[in-house]
Amino acid sequence: MNIIIAKDAKEASEIASGKIIEEINTKKSLVLGLATGDTPLQTYKRLIEAYQKGTVDFTDVKTFNLDEYLGLPKEDVNSYNYYMHTNLFDHINIKKENIHLLSGFSDDFTKTANNYDEMIDEYNGIDLQVLGIGVNGHIGFNEPNSKLTLETHVTDLTQATLEQNSKFFPNIDEMPKQAITMGLGTIMKAKKIILIATGIRKANIIAQFLNSNEIDTYTPVSTLLLHNDLTVILDEEAASRYLEEKKMIGNENFNKKCSNNQRKCSTL
Ligand code: PGA
Repeated sequence: MNIIIAKDAKEASEIASGKIIEEINTKKSLVLGLATGDTPLQTYKRLIEAYQKGTVDFTDVKTFNLDEYLGLPKEDVNSYNYYMHTNLFDHINIKKENIHLLSGFSDDFTKTANNYDEMIDEYNGIDLQVLGIGVNGHIGFNEPNSKLTLETHVTDLTQATLEQNSKFFPNIDEMPKQAITMGLGTIMKAKKIILIATGIRKANIIAQFLNSNEIDTYTPVSTLLLHNDLTVILDEEAASRYLEEKKMIGNENFNKKCSNNQRKCSTL
């Protein structure tokens, strides 16, 4: 795992977009897995700027998005379809037929999910997957649970996710309570993964993830510990607790204090 700690969210987005551009410039027909939410917004802005400057070309790039809320039409300002078009696709030269987004409507979600996974397989998997992280450790909408699903699937959203994402809706009651998401198996099959986390509200989950050496289905991001080409890009705020705890690991008092919570206190 490669951990990069940027000064702030702006620098983190410069590093993340730089890596994406490098991959596209190495492989013109890159299969790119994309995330939504607050975190990648700045990164997408930089990709648009790079496209406008002519330093990156999306003609042959294929994209697959991680997830979508159930029941939101694609014109809804809170749908991830709308988000992707307004924040990236409408401003770059990606071909319509190369964009793959999950739909929040289907007569048969099992079929929709299987088709999505099959399409990804047809492209020989995702070359580079961009991820954010939820405050509860979800990636995509793979929510903490006793079991985690490998394939694309419909999921109930946890209270933590509803609270985190309710900022985008008039109120929590108007939020969809379910989503369709790429599964952890598909994410883990991506050849490279970039996870971006910025801001102080991500400090606890980042510490829990990076200072652990265990896979915990209640911290879905922990499955990434098994990936062999993962880059974690943090800003100083998101990295703060991880660094604090890391310094304390091995310190006798800290170990004593943490003896009831082995997971949080173990080394990388
Ligand atoms: P955020 O969400 O970027 O809005 O913080 C990230 C996520 O939930 O994966």
